[in-house]
Amino acid sequence: MYKKILVAFDGSEPSRNALDHAVSIANKWKSELRILSVVPRVMMPVFPDEGFGAAPITAAQDMSDYQEKMKNIYAKSLQEAEEDIKEAFPDLKVSTYLMEGRPSGIIVEEAEKENADLIVIGSRGLGGITGWILGSTSRRVVESCTKPILVVKNPQ
Ligand SMILES: Nc1ncnc2c1ncn2[C@@H]1O[C@H](COP(=O)(O)OP(=O)(O)OP(=O)(O)O)[C@@H](O)[C@H]1O
Ligand SMILES: [Mg+2]
Repeated sequence: MYKKILVAFDGSEPSRNALDHAVSIANKWKSELRILSVVPRVMMPVFPDEGFGAAPITAAQDMSDYQEKMKNIYAKSLQEAEEDIKEAFPDLKVSTYLMEGRPSGIIVEEAEKENADLIVIGSRGLGGITGWILGSTSRRVVESCTKPILVVKNPQ
């Protein structure tokens, strides 16, 4: 039924929970599991009256350092997640990939490109704002993807 499952992983507790469900489904259906992490891009602030000129000259370097740091953090938690799964389920076909850009758009695009049969995503992620059932990534993915999707809510 599910030949290929794409799970969206940002390293947060809810996405770990989503990953557990994806692993369990993949084991049951002998599916290939693809774990995707997207490093969001930091934006250079533009001040309406002053444009880029208002940012100090070092800001661009600071931002690219920050971007690199974020990329390393995402890469590390992705790698650790993969290692844990491989150790626990040596027969499972699992692979990971890291991309950069807008998470929701990339998740939807990759699910199409990869021809995934199922997307698994957490209801919430790293974002701290409480009160909403869905975060902005899961909401956008649910709204725009054409694939079957499993949104895993976190235990309360
Ligand atoms: N950068 C990302 N890369 C891969 N998957 C992601 C990423 N961000 C979120 N996700 C997926 O989407 C799920 C929901 O996260 P989402 O970002 O929507 O919630 P949030 O972080 O709580 O809210 P917000 O980002 O709007 O502040 C996560 O559990 C994860 O499965
Ligand atoms: Mg988020």
